[in-house]
Amino acid sequence: MGMKDAPITELTLRRPDDWHLHLRDGAMLDAVLPETARHFGRAIIMPNLVPPVVTAAHAEAYRTRILAALPEGMTFEPLMTLYLTEDTDPDDVAMAFERGIAKAVKLYPAGATTNSTSGVTNFDKVRPVLARMAEIGMPLCVHGEVTDSTIDIFDREAVFIDKILKPIRKKNPDLKIVMEHVTTQDAVDYVRDNHKNLAATITTHHLIINRNHILAGGIKPHYYCLPVAKREAHRVALVEAAISGDKRFFLGTDSAPHTDPNKLQTCGCAGIFSAPNTLSCLAEVFDAADALTKLEAFASLNGPRFYGLPPNEYTIQLIKGEPVSYPAQISTGEGPVTVFDPGFPLHWRVET
Ligand code: DOR
Ligand code: ZN
Repeated sequence: MGMKDAPITELTLRRPDDWHLHLRDGAMLDAVLPETARHFGRAIIMPNLVPPVVTAAHAEAYRTRILAALPEGMTFEPLMTLYLTEDTDPDDVAMAFERGIAKAVKLYPAGATTNSTSGVTNFDKVRPVLARMAEIGMPLCVHGEVTDSTIDIFDREAVFIDKILKPIRKKNPDLKIVMEHVTTQDAVDYVRDNHKNLAATITTHHLIINRNHILAGGIKPHYYCLPVAKREAHRVALVEAAISGDKRFFLGTDSAPHTDPNKLQTCGCAGIFSAPNTLSCLAEVFDAADALTKLEAFASLNGPRFYGLPPNEYTIQLIKGEPVSYPAQISTGEGPVTVFDPGFPLHWRVET
């Protein structure tokens, strides 16, 4: 009979990064930025502001606003993205990448989600941009859902892979693509079967909730996000991918703050705000799967590797003990924002 290893109660990780984050702007930015900067070294910043961050000049100005909102004594590097439209200029994109102003371009199919109306409808129109990105090695971050209203919302990711992603990758085999916030076994399998230039981010909440959390026993708007959580078998597939250590899967929280009044209405906004407690949630998930030693790969190593960046220098510690509590809401200049409730106690606290 083998001796079981002593349970891990302390874990030191390279400081993690968040490869998909919504910081918004103005008073909301002021309130949510410290929640991420407290634990994370860098984040890929989503460009779906109103109006969107389309050009290098927009990205540079937004980056300046983010750094201005960062409290004294905190260090954090925003990695900017450009919002892909049918009018995006390949030269502007290439210039932004070469000068280090933007790290990636974000593709929203028009109408797929919050502030995506300026996204892409006709994929032929963005072909020159994609070709240029492939040439210079600039990654494309993809919101992978079709927007066809006849396609069931729970099938939109799987259909996107077949109808949109496969053709894009066939035409641009050298384009580096991140399938963002994957929610299905289909997406996990697709990434596993395609070794070249393809990776996926996984959110914290999709490792924890399935669609029952949203809909069974009363509707829970704070669990509604896009892509919407799928059935339990898909959640299990995501956990397996995250804890596998496979270099193509890494953390992108998709922490997406909306005020409570905007969530709790007849037509509520999509988005889950998980920045404050994401690392405690992840430690709980990896601990439950007996995979704590793989958390650093998922949260701190695989992402920088894909983006061609070094891992962060500094480390953080996760320490297991009595349940840690996080506020149910944070207050912002725009109103209260509810923090993701994993539905179980969190035993891991973060020390930086
Ligand atoms: O739930 C979501 N919220 N999904 C997205 O794709 C966008 C995001 C947001 O900006 O609120
Ligand atoms: Zn997002």
